[in-house]
Amino acid sequence: MTTHAPRVFSGMQPTGNLTLGNYLGALRNFVALQERDFERLYCVVDLHAITVAQDPATLARATREVAAAYIASGLDPERSIIFNQSRVSAHAELGWIFTCVARMGWLNRMTQFKEKAGKNRENASVGLFSYPTLMAADILAYRATHVPVGEDQKQHLELTRDIAAKFNNDFNVPDFFPLPEPLIQAETARIMSLRDGRNKMSKSDPSDMSRINLTDDADLIAQKIRKAKTDPEPLPSEAEGLAERPEALNLVGIYSALSGRSVADILAEYGGQGFGAFKPALAEMTVTKIAPIGEEMRRLMQSPDEIDAILADGAERAAALARPVLREVYETLGLTGGGSAR
Ligand code: TRP
Repeated sequence: MTTHAPRVFSGMQPTGNLTLGNYLGALRNFVALQERDFERLYCVVDLHAITVAQDPATLARATREVAAAYIASGLDPERSIIFNQSRVSAHAELGWIFTCVARMGWLNRMTQFKEKAGKNRENASVGLFSYPTLMAADILAYRATHVPVGEDQKQHLELTRDIAAKFNNDFNVPDFFPLPEPLIQAETARIMSLRDGRNKMSKSDPSDMSRINLTDDADLIAQKIRKAKTDPEPLPSEAEGLAERPEALNLVGIYSALSGRSVADILAEYGGQGFGAFKPALAEMTVTKIAPIGEEMRRLMQSPDEIDAILADGAERAAALARPVLREVYETLGLTGGGSAR
């Protein structure tokens, strides 16, 4: 039984240098959901960012930059609620309550914490450890039913469901929180480095030539594609022929993702031809799709007041949705007075 209205929540961390990978893996998916029958909240999760050290000015800039990327990619602030997490106190409040619902054993199993803390566990922030409880609060403060996330966040979403179920059960409020479903984008090609097809395209790669940043202009995008690593063979006529050729696979995958054409279809056209023929087509496709986003992002970053007004309006609408949920949570727990949500 679900009594909960279809509602999407997703978030991205404000870490600068968004790449083509972020666009193809997340942003365009967020935008596509505008055509579906969901209420949508898209958050810039600045409270999550501070689980590791941040320079304050850089954090503030990166928060606006991700908001700019949301808008420039096609999210309409009227139709989707766009805001940053720290503006809505419900996240921190419900986050605390969920740190009291979640069990140490559950969090101890989180692979992302193990990766991020590495050998330096003793010195990791408590917030990095309890990160998924705040993520659960993000989602459940709005009773979101669907969460577009990448594969790497599936475990955190399972934890969100565990928290929701335990809360509903412990306090005998069946169906108070929905058990949100992941929306994993079907068949996203993994976008790999332009310098090494075996590594993910990453904003932290020391070589800027390894990635397309969303803010790169048309010339730079074309140059990066022209210089992308390839192998000396012509393109194969069938997808199987890409198996042992990570760079070729990546470039064809990018073309496919940007054009919406299948790999088979692309290879039917370019099979037997060298990269000298394929790269200009890929460069043109990438410039057409990505350069306008960068242009709009640069324009928005020149007028931070415009971004801030959108974030303030989004936060107000988000807070209005979270308020009654929080009030009920406080009452359910016997926290008299309804907290700040009264
Ligand atoms: N943890 C997510 C990431 O690193 C970001 C995130 C925070 C998120 N809160 C969320 C994603 C809620 C979806 C829903 O990518």
